[in-house]
Amino acid sequence: MTATENVASGLPVATFTEAMSRLVSGLAVVTTRQPTGQPCGLLVSSICSYSVDPPSALVVVDHASRCRDSLARCVEFGVHVLGRGEERTARTFASRGADKFADVGWEWDGEVPRLFDAPIYLRCNTSAVFDHGDHTVLIGEVARTEVAEAEPLVCYRRQFDWRLRRNGVRQP
Ligand SMILES: Cc1cc2nc3c(=O)[nH]c(=O)nc-3n(C[C@H](O)[C@H](O)[C@H](O)COP(=O)(O)O)c2cc1C
Repeated sequence: MTATENVASGLPVATFTEAMSRLVSGLAVVTTRQPTGQPCGLLVSSICSYSVDPPSALVVVDHASRCRDSLARCVEFGVHVLGRGEERTARTFASRGADKFADVGWEWDGEVPRLFDAPIYLRCNTSAVFDHGDHTVLIGEVARTEVAEAEPLVCYRRQFDWRLRRNGVRQP
């Protein structure tokens, strides 16, 4: 068995992750307050709408994420869907930098560190948390939604700011 093979299924992990990288996704920064009072946040592509009644969103967090424990215990968290032009913010929150909030504009919205520039903001009350495998599923009931007009930041095959091609031409 190779290192990139799932023990239970024998499925090659590299093939699975390559397949999933071809799923076009939006990108969002998920934030909350740590028990220390400091903000924390990470970039996710796993954001999706979960239910309409009640309005709920779902994100999936790797157990290796430094935010995982704070998110699993928090009463509220924020979801910031990023717009085109926020590639730098995406890379900052995908990193394991010491202070990811140093160079972004933000403020507290209750327990949620709210980023100023994201075109879509959801403040969520944590309603379900469960583990499966090496990730934690987090469902939040949406208490506040703000939407500004902007084109989305789109990820495809690990490339940020991917754009649709029409007749083989990447759109501006
Ligand atoms: C395009 C992209 C999508 C990602 N999606 C997720 C995700 O859905 N869930 C997750 O836990 N990590 C995801 N990550 C990885 C985290 O952003 C990354 O591990 C980050 O360093 C975690 O930060 P932290 O340890 O400070 O929490 C993604 C990274 C990239 C580049």
